[in-house]
Amino acid sequence: MDNGKNEQAGPIGVFDSGFGGLTILRDIRERLPQYDYLYLGDNARAPYGPRSFDIVYRFTLDAVKYLFSRGCRLVILACNTASAKALRSIQQNDLPGIDPSRRVLGVIRPTAEIIGQLSRTGHIGVLATGGTVASRSYNLEIEKLHPGFSVATQACPMFVPLVENREIESPAADYFAAKYISSLLEKDRRIDTIILACTHYPLLYDVIRRNTPPEINVVCQGGIVADSLADYMERHPEIADRCTTGGKCTYLTTENPEAFADLARVFLDEDIEAKHVELN
Ligand code: DGL
Repeated sequence: MDNGKNEQAGPIGVFDSGFGGLTILRDIRERLPQYDYLYLGDNARAPYGPRSFDIVYRFTLDAVKYLFSRGCRLVILACNTASAKALRSIQQNDLPGIDPSRRVLGVIRPTAEIIGQLSRTGHIGVLATGGTVASRSYNLEIEKLHPGFSVATQACPMFVPLVENREIESPAADYFAAKYISSLLEKDRRIDTIILACTHYPLLYDVIRRNTPPEINVVCQGGIVADSLADYMERHPEIADRCTTGGKCTYLTTENPEAFADLARVFLDEDIEAKHVELN
């Protein structure tokens, strides 16, 4: 017998290696404020960017299982590196055995889908972590969805530490933004759209924008992911009905919760409380 929504429903899980997914969560909550959210940052094991495929996959699977154990029916991998290195394996190999009625979604596909509407030249630049670049996930997704498009990528290993050390408006941020953008544009002079394909980079938007030629679009993905999720919820009422509503957001971290709450302010512009959890 169906015991109704409460038995079957839970918050939407939002996972990131640490803080960065808060930029995605902020846009999702703005677009879909009615749902409850459970955010998990694996700060104790971050950053994921430089880690190998196998490690990112195992850490991400731990997190997904944990969020499922807390009642989430739908989990968003807000982390580009986790989406690039773990999502496909989890969807194809793990989910059928764990619970085929649950869903895990990432941030790369929705971004790749919309990019066709944003570029005139079909030449796309991607700024991301070394891990996302090495996975070639953006190249594969964009070139599959938009035949004839070409994608050039640039790893930006200094961007995450700059944000986490609150050096967003520093001369160092300008120096590295100029360096990464010119290196990207040297790979393809016809790029007209640059995707900020890492959760932290929207916080560096102003510095990236002023170091990019004005005719080139600089695209943040939070709004894109939020619109895509809203569309998904409309098309999948069987999942939407299993996501609790009430607008509550709970924050979990595998590291120190006070330190998490402190830096989270940079990402969210609001005060939060966080709780510590162990993933295994
Ligand atoms: N969240 C990661 C991403 O979007 C950046 C931080 C990390 O390397 O863990 O790729």
